[in-house]
Amino acid sequence: MGKDQIMAILEIIVAPDPRLKVTAKPVDGVDDDVRKLMDDMLETMHSAQGIGLASTQVGDPRRVLVVDVSGVDENPDPIRMANPELIWASDENSIHEEGCLSLPEQYAEVVRPDSIRVRYLDETGEIREREADGMLATCIQHEMDHLDGVLFVDHISSLKRGMILRRLIKVKKQAEAEAEAV
Ligand code: NI
Repeated sequence: MGKDQIMAILEIIVAPDPRLKVTAKPVDGVDDDVRKLMDDMLETMHSAQGIGLASTQVGDPRRVLVVDVSGVDENPDPIRMANPELIWASDENSIHEEGCLSLPEQYAEVVRPDSIRVRYLDETGEIREREADGMLATCIQHEMDHLDGVLFVDHISSLKRGMILRRLIKVKKQAEAEAEAV
């Protein structure tokens, strides 16, 4: 993206919403347009104080994700990925509590492979491979799921999933009622 282009905060889609079930399509390459999407997504994610965001969550059909799991006192460490592919995952699993900008204020423990290797196109269009474990591995897998229309609640029991989705529906209905009352 050129320095003269202005970044934009995108609207994050909140569940339940059929747009979150869409499977994103691979990009042909990383051009200025894809770079702008990556940068806008990073700005959107940072402004929402998230650690990861997938294109599906902002209603864009291209397979792009961004993550930054750096801590509050650390330098930012933004990672931009297009067409991410899992090429290896450990047999060992770990459990992390996950949340999601599309499921605000909802959390659940999710079991996933502890370590992964992912292949992707970076912001320059280079093919890269990266190994990740811990929080970064969890975050990348969570965002890759979004690109296939999968939410973290799809990994937990239907009982817990139902509870979380009902809470989100209630919040949406309240917001709609308040909007109508104005
Ligand atoms: Ni998410």
